[in-house]
Amino acid sequence: ETKNWIVDKEREIVPQIEEAAMWIRENEVVAFPTETVYGLGANAYSEEAVAKIFQAKGRPSDNPLIVHIASVVQLERLVDEIPLHAKILIDAFWPGPLTLVLNKGEGIAENVTAGLSTVAVRMPDHPVALAIISEADLPIAAPSANVSGKPSPTLAAHVLSDLNGKIAGIVDGGPTGVGLESTVLDCTTEVPMILRPGGVTREQLEKVIGNVVVDPALEDDGQAPKSPGVKYKHYAPQAKLFLVDGTAAFLQEQVENAKAAGKKVGVLTTIEGVPNYQADVVLPSGTATDLATVAQHLYEVLRKFDEYDLDVIYSETFSEEAVGKAIMNRLTKAAGGDVIKEQL
Ligand code: TXA
Ligand code: MG
Repeated sequence: ETKNWIVDKEREIVPQIEEAAMWIRENEVVAFPTETVYGLGANAYSEEAVAKIFQAKGRPSDNPLIVHIASVVQLERLVDEIPLHAKILIDAFWPGPLTLVLNKGEGIAENVTAGLSTVAVRMPDHPVALAIISEADLPIAAPSANVSGKPSPTLAAHVLSDLNGKIAGIVDGGPTGVGLESTVLDCTTEVPMILRPGGVTREQLEKVIGNVVVDPALEDDGQAPKSPGVKYKHYAPQAKLFLVDGTAAFLQEQVENAKAAGKKVGVLTTIEGVPNYQADVVLPSGTATDLATVAQHLYEVLRKFDEYDLDVIYSETFSEEAVGKAIMNRLTKAAGGDVIKEQL
């Protein structure tokens, strides 16, 4: 049975958080909210505790975890050295949705980093996450708290639907904020490289440290990505998802064709787009005028489609500006790369 602690994120440390932190100290796994998505946390110094994360998620053991900290002092023990550009980024973006990959120090459990010589670290911008880490007084290894392959959880209910009975506990602090995972940035090279687009955009990083590159594997399927997790199929709803790059009329045409073939059809759009489509289910993720709201609701909507027993889902595409980059990265993975492009 999974223990469910409900907390109010506006309040200070409460007994529920103390208990959850104690369970982490006892090498149990506990899910908790961050500003991006819910994480599934365990003591980063314990191989045994970290093994429980991989077990519960069904996560491939070659996919390393992000270590979450609540103070920069904790970072000093985890990493070998902190390069100057990383220091500048820490000042500018922590706490926040930016994960830094650095050369690892001593002491963290081997399975956290899947045998790599680097470690991914971030300081979440969420009072509940920070309180649990501080109370546990440990760095906490935490991947997203979903079963491997499913969309990351943005509500406690998502975590329970995937992991109830498989984890010791969950701290329910309400919906997360950003809705997509953190940006993963490799800081071990002279020019830092984005390994996974996320809550902090390339433009924001470049404003602070100048040139930043993007892992070429993110744009080209033929290359092996530098972040192990990026190669796995992810976020996919049960029905086959296609991205449609074109007008609403063109997307509706795809819907008509699928219906004519006897299929049950869903459409993923924004609030503004809803009136443009006649399908079995039309679900909006946020508003077209604010991509941050699209990001916020995307995983919830992808999970929602699973309730309708659909055969196929057609999704609008989004601008790749700012957080749109992360939105399109996740949608492209959820679609297994299948884009239907309108010939103009
Ligand atoms: O927002 C987030 O980052 C959430 C919350 C819970 O903090 N966490 C999250 O963790 O998304 P996860 O495990 O689902 O994704 C971690 C990503 C994976 O793609 C993994 O391969 C990559 O980070 N990663 C971890 N350690 C790495 C390393 N040393 N080098 C390169 N990539 C690494
Ligand atoms: Mg994940």
